[in-house]
Amino acid sequence: MECRLDGQVAVVTGGSSGIGRGIAQLFAQAGAAVVVNYRGSRDGAEEAVREIEAAGGKAIAVKADVSQQAEVEAMFAAAVEHFGAVDILVANSGIQKDAAFTELTLEDWQQVIDTNLTGQFLCAQAAVRQFRRQGERGVSRARGKILCMSSVHEVIPWAGHTNYAASKGGISLLMKSLAQEVAEEGIRVNAIAPGAIRTAINADATEGDAARDLLRLIPYGRIGVVEDVARVALFLASDMGDYVVGATLFVDGGMTLYPGFRDNG
Ligand code: BGC
Repeated sequence: MECRLDGQVAVVTGGSSGIGRGIAQLFAQAGAAVVVNYRGSRDGAEEAVREIEAAGGKAIAVKADVSQQAEVEAMFAAAVEHFGAVDILVANSGIQKDAAFTELTLEDWQQVIDTNLTGQFLCAQAAVRQFRRQGERGVSRARGKILCMSSVHEVIPWAGHTNYAASKGGISLLMKSLAQEVAEEGIRVNAIAPGAIRTAINADATEGDAARDLLRLIPYGRIGVVEDVARVALFLASDMGDYVVGATLFVDGGMTLYPGFRDNG
C-alpha cells in the first residue's frame, strides 16, 4: 500500500519555496490538486505550479498573507472555486527575524507571531469551517486533515530567536487543543517539527564552516533535505497515517535527543 492523495485538494501555505514547495510537489505526485500559496514570491509559486503541471499534476498559485483573515478566506474561496473542495491544509508559512533579546523590536516580535502562529490559527479555522461545509466527500477516511508546521524549537529553547521559539511553542498546544476539539468530527490535526533542513531560511547555518558546527547537534550526521519532511507530511496526510491524531512528528536526525550528552554529558 502506498501513500496516495488521489481526488483530494491540498492547500499548502508558503508553497513557493523551501519545505512548502517540496510538500506541494510531492502531494501533487501523490494525486492531490494543490493550491500553492505565496505572499511575496510569485515567481517561485508560478514555477512550482509549472513543474507540477509538467509532471501531469494539477495546481494553482494563490497569493495571500496568512496573517490577514480576509486574505485567508479569499484563498480558501479560490481553492473551492477552482477545485471544488479542500481536504488537506498544510499550514507551513513561517519566517524568522532573529535578534538578541534586548535588540528585538516589537515589530519583529509581532511579525513572527503574526505569520507563524496567528497565520496557522486563521488557516486552520478556515479549513475546519470548509471541512464542515462540504461534509463527507468519500476521498479519504478522515473528513479533513490539517498539518501544522512546527519546529524542533517547539521544545528546544533558542537564544537569539525568542520570537520564533515562542511562535513554535505556541503551535504545539494550538495543534493539540484543536486536534482534541475536532477529532470527533473525523478531522485529524497533527504537526511536523523539522530540525535543520537545507532551505533559504537557514542558508547561513547550513553552508561552509557553520555546517560543521551544526552537524555536532545532529546525531544522525547529516543536514536534512526538503524531501525528508515532505515524505512525512505525505504519510500524515494520507490514509496510511489515519490513526495519528494530535501528534507532533520530529523530523530532525535526532536533534531533540540532547546530543551534548553523547559523550557522557
Ligand atoms: C529553523 C532553522 C534551524 C532549525 C534547527 C528551524 O525551525 O527555521 O533555521 O536551522 O530549526 O535549529
